Amino acid sequence: MIETMENLVIPKHIAIILDGNGRWAKARKLPRKMGHAEGCKTVEKTVEDAARLGVEYLTVYGFSTENWKRSEEEVGALMQLFRYYMKRLLKVAKKNNVRVKMIGDKRRFAQDIIDGINALEEETKDNTGLTFVIAVNYGGRDEIRRATIKLAEDVKEGKLEPEQITEDTIKGYLDTATIPDPDLLIRTSGEFRLSNYLLWQCAYTEFYVTDVLWPDFNKEELIRAIYDYNKRDRRFGGRNEKEEK
Ligand code: IPE
Ligand code: IPE
Ligand code: MG
Repeated sequence: MIETMENLVIPKHIAIILDGNGRWAKARKLPRKMGHAEGCKTVEKTVEDAARLGVEYLTVYGFSTENWKRSEEEVGALMQLFRYYMKRLLKVAKKNNVRVKMIGDKRRFAQDIIDGINALEEETKDNTGLTFVIAVNYGGRDEIRRATIKLAEDVKEGKLEPEQITEDTIKGYLDTATIPDPDLLIRTSGEFRLSNYLLWQCAYTEFYVTDVLWPDFNKEELIRAIYDYNKRDRRFGGRNEKEEK
């Protein structure tokens, strides 16, 4: 597989719905938090793998606006892991020239987590390699709702005329204003749904679903997804006239 990699087109932006941490733990009769801990290690490795493969943007779904519905114990464990991995991530980012960016509504987090997020973004902002985007307290609908509030305020203040609103205007109000749309979306653990992820941005994204549970995901699986992506014919609503002949 690796031998023919030089001909492979590396997607500029890969988005991942990491799923299956709970099932991974259950299969081993371990508490769910052990699955999340193992999943965090996989995130760290995937950042390094994606950076080495030359991916420009990697966006990972870490915690959804709906994940607060889980038990206090599980949410608490996730917050603790978040605290711990933010510190590790700073080292990984520095070592691999990675710029870190968070999307989602961080206001709901504890102050020390908000401070950690801000520091992580600030201290890596001049790195020129992979941009690693973490979606936390993120929901596609919530992102559009928050963007709409800001847009409506600008209209109210006379900064913008409703007739001037284009698709690009809307993009500019989203958390992902400076990030190109994902080319490839990977979901682990075999589920075929978006779960409120990047709803606006995935309009023409290619989907790849694998049965592998997130803690078991690795570089080979990432390359497999990229191979599959290379077989796709992206038409963006147009026609592939060469194939029709
Ligand atoms: C994904 O794993 C991690 C988060 C959503 C935070 P899950 O916790 O959803 O794992 P499953 O789906 O229960 O196996
Ligand atoms: C999506 O996974 C959210 C994250 C990966 C953070 P979920 O496990 O929460 O999604 P559903 O419930 O299977 O749709
Ligand atoms: Mg899940």
